[in-house]
Amino acid sequence: MIDFASIPPARLPDLLRAMPKAELHLHIEGSLEPELIFALARRNGVALPYASVEALRAAYAFTDLQSFLDIYYAGASVLLKEEDFFDMGMAYFRRAAADNVVHAELFFDPQTHTDRGVSFATVIGGLSRACEVAQRDLGVSALLILCFLRHLSEEAAFATLEDALPHQDKFIGVGLDSGERGNPPEKFARVFARCRELGLHVVAHAGEEGPPAYIWSALDVLQVERIDHGVACLDDPALVARLAAERVPLTVCPLSNVKLCVYPTMDAHKLVELLAAGLCATVNSDDPAYFGGYINQNFLAAFAALPQLTAKHAHQLAANSFEASFVDAATKARWNQALDKVFAAG
Ligand code: ADE
Ligand code: ZN
Repeated sequence: MIDFASIPPARLPDLLRAMPKAELHLHIEGSLEPELIFALARRNGVALPYASVEALRAAYAFTDLQSFLDIYYAGASVLLKEEDFFDMGMAYFRRAAADNVVHAELFFDPQTHTDRGVSFATVIGGLSRACEVAQRDLGVSALLILCFLRHLSEEAAFATLEDALPHQDKFIGVGLDSGERGNPPEKFARVFARCRELGLHVVAHAGEEGPPAYIWSALDVLQVERIDHGVACLDDPALVARLAAERVPLTVCPLSNVKLCVYPTMDAHKLVELLAAGLCATVNSDDPAYFGGYINQNFLAAFAALPQLTAKHAHQLAANSFEASFVDAATKARWNQALDKVFAAG
C-alpha cells in the first residue's frame, strides 16, 4: 500500500518527473522543433516563409485549432526523405526518455506527406526504424497509429488505407485528426468499419473543439477504443456516465488546450473534474514543439495551476496511461510495479 497522504506536496514535481508513464497522444509531426525544421529545410533545399528560428517561433500564437494547423502543416513541408522522418522520431524519443516515458503510441499523418509526393513507404520506413532504435537504445517501447485527416474526404482516407496495407505490420491502429468542427466522426464510418475488420485499433479526436455529439458518434459509429481530448464530455452528464462506466480512456493534453484556447488559462482546465468523475483520463503533449512543452511540462503545468491535484492523482494518471495503452496485460503489470516503487519511496 502506498501512503499517499504522507507525501509532502513539495515532492510532487520530482515525482511527476520521475514516475514512469505512457504517452498516448503525440503527433510526431507536432514534435518538429523550429531548429529541426530549419536544419531539414537546409538539408533538403526547401525555402521557408520565415527568416529565422526566432521568427518561426514568434508565429506560434494560436487562437484556435485551425490557426495552429495552418502552421503545423507548413512546418511538415521540410520532411522529404526517410532519414528526415527517422531524425524527427529520434528527436522525440530522446525527449520522451528524459521524461521517463516507458511507452509511446505515436500518431502520424501520412496524407500531409503523400499529398506532397512523399511516398507512404518513405514515411513509415523512417518512423518505424526510429521506433526500433528507441526500444534498442533508449528502452522506450513505441507503436505507430495512422491518422486520417478529417478535413479531407472518406474516399481519400480509403486511398491512404490502400497505400498503408502493405505495411500493416508497422502500425497498430488508426485515428482521426485535423479540423474537427464540421467534420463529424460519422463522415468516416465506412473506412473505420474496414479498419476494425482488418484488426486495427481505432481511436479518434473528438470533443476538443467539437461538441459532445462528436464523442457519442466516435463511440457509437466509429466504435473507438479511446477518445483523443474528449474534454467537451463534461457538458453532457449522460456521456460522462457512459465514458466512466465503460472506462473509455481520454487522452487529455493540458498545454494544447490552453494554447488552442479551449480553456483561457491552465487554472480553468477541467482535469480535476474529469478524474473526479471516475474517467480514465491521461496526460499527454499533443504537439509539444508548438505548445510549449513535452509530457512532463504538461504534468508540471497542470499540477502547478490546479492545487487540488495530489500525489494520488499523479499516480492515477500514470496508471491510467498504462491501462489505456495497447499493450499486453503482463507488460502493463510490470510498468505498474515500477510506478508503485517510485511512489512507495515517497
Ligand atoms: N493534428 C495535430 N494536432 C492536432 C490536434 N490537437 N487536434 C486535431 N488535429 C491535430
Ligand atoms: Zn491531437
